[in-house]
Amino acid sequence: MSNPDFVIVILAAGKGTRLKSALAKVLHRAGGRPLVEHVVRACQPLKPREIVAIVGHQAEDVTAAVAPLGVKTALQKPQRGTGHAMLVARRAIPSRVKFAILLPGDAPLIRTETLVALARAHRETGAAATILSAEIENPSGYGRIVRRDDGSVAAIVEDAALSQEQRAIREINSSIYCFTLEKLWPCLASLKPQNVHKELYLTDAIAVLRQKSENVQAVLAADPDEVLGCNTRADLAEVDTVFRRRKRSAIMDAGVTIELPETVLIDPEVMVGADTRIEPGVQLLGKTRIGAACTIRTGSILSDAVVEDNVLVKPYSMVVSSHLARGSQVGPFAHLREHSRLDENARVGNFVEVKKSVLGEGVKSMHLTYLGDAHVGSGTNIGAGTITCNYDGVNKNPTTIGKRVFIGSDSALVAPVRIGDGAYIGAGSVITKNVPPDALGIARGQQANKLGWAAARRREIAAAGKKPKRKSSRKKK
Ligand code: UD1
Ligand code: MG
Repeated sequence: MSNPDFVIVILAAGKGTRLKSALAKVLHRAGGRPLVEHVVRACQPLKPREIVAIVGHQAEDVTAAVAPLGVKTALQKPQRGTGHAMLVARRAIPSRVKFAILLPGDAPLIRTETLVALARAHRETGAAATILSAEIENPSGYGRIVRRDDGSVAAIVEDAALSQEQRAIREINSSIYCFTLEKLWPCLASLKPQNVHKELYLTDAIAVLRQKSENVQAVLAADPDEVLGCNTRADLAEVDTVFRRRKRSAIMDAGVTIELPETVLIDPEVMVGADTRIEPGVQLLGKTRIGAACTIRTGSILSDAVVEDNVLVKPYSMVVSSHLARGSQVGPFAHLREHSRLDENARVGNFVEVKKSVLGEGVKSMHLTYLGDAHVGSGTNIGAGTITCNYDGVNKNPTTIGKRVFIGSDSALVAPVRIGDGAYIGAGSVITKNVPPDALGIARGQQANKLGWAAARRREIAAAGKKPKRKSSRKKK
C-alpha cells in the first residue's frame, strides 16, 4: 500500500560542473550503479504516493535511467538552483499531498532506515521542515547548520557565505529534508538569487521559515557516511569505497571467506553461498550467483555468471554470462564467453576459450583450445590445441561432438561438422566431413621416415660451412 499523503522528490537536474564530465552527474557510477539509482532504491520501500525526479541536464538520459524504476520526471530548464528545482516539483505534486521528502540525486549512500527515522521525527515534532544533518570531519564544501542557543535551527549557511566563526561548524546539511508542503510553498516565492551562483537556494527557505516562527528541526544521521555527496571525482571514489565495503561485509556475513577484502570488487546484485572462498583481486560483477563451497582464485573476473556448488575457478580466469555446474573447474587463464555451459565435473584448463558452447558431464579440455558454437557430449576429451573453425567468413556454424569422443591434439574441426559417439580423431587432423560413431577420423599427410637423411644433411652443412672461411682468409691476404 502506498502512502497517499507523501511524495519523494529527487533533485537530479544539475550538471555537476566539478566532475568535469560530459555525463550528467547523477549518472556517474559508484558501487556498481548510477548514483541516482541508489537513491531511488533507498526510497522505494517507503512506498510514497510517487517518486518524482527533477531532471534538466541530459534530461533524456536521466529519465531513461529512472523511468524503469517507476519514477516520474519533471523538467527543470534552465536549472536555477535547488530552490527553483522545488518550484518545478510543485507543479508535479498533487495538491492533496501533505509531506515531501527531498533528496539530492548525488548522495547515494542514504539508507531506507534513515529516511524512515527522518519522516517519523518530522511527524512527531510537527515541524514545518526537518533537515537530516551530519557531523563530518571535513565539512568544507557543504552548507552548515547554524543553531540557536536553544538548539533549534536558525539557518543553513552555504560554504561560500560562511563567516570566520561559522567555519568551525562541523554539522552539515545533507540536502535531505522532510517538508510540510503547505508551509514550504509560500517560502519559495520569497527566495532571491543573492549568492555567488545567482541561483535560488532551497537552503534559504529555512531562514524564511524561521522568520515566520515556524518549527525547523535537524536530526543527525547516525552514520555520517550516508550523506556524502558526489561533487568531485575524489568524492565518487570515496563513496564507491563505502559501497564496496558494505557489500563485502554483507557477503562475509553470509558465511563467505574473502582474503584481502579491500582488493575484491562485488557488484550490488551478486549472491555468494556459504563456505565459498574468494581470493584477492577477484571481481564479481552484474548478476553473478555463486553457490556454496566454491573457490574463486586470485585475479578472476565473473560477470553475470551462474556458478553451482563446489566449483573451482583457478587464477586469472574470465567467466561471462555462462553457467558452471556443480564440481566443474575452470582455468587458470581460461575465458568462458557468453552462453557457455560446463555440466557437472567438466574441466576447462589453461588458455582455453569457450563461446556459446555446452561441455557435457566430465568433458575435459585442458590446454590451448577454442570451442565456439560447439556441443560436446559427456566424457569426451578435447586434445591440446583443438580449434572449432566455426566462422566461414560469413556465418557461424555449429560443431557437434558426441559422447566419449577423443579429439587428438592440434585438430581443426571445420564447422558445420559432427563427430559421432565414441569416435577418435587423429592428432593434427583437419576434419571437414562428419565422422561416424566409433570411427577414427584422420586427415593429415602420411609420415615417411628417410633413413640416414639427417646425418647426411649435417655432413653437407659442415662441408658448406668450411668454404666461406677459406674465401675470407684469402681476401685478407
Ligand atoms: C547542496 C546544498 C548544501 C548541502 C549539499 C549536500 C544548496 C544550495 N546547497 O549543495 O547545503 O550541504 O547539497 O550535498 O541546496 N540540482 C537541481 N537543479 C538545480 C541545482 C541543483 O536539480 O538547479 C540538483 C543537483 O543535480 C544535485 C542536487 O540538486 O543532485 C544538489 O545540487 P548541488 O549543486 O550538488 O548542490 P551542493 O553544492 O552540493
Ligand atoms: Mg552536491
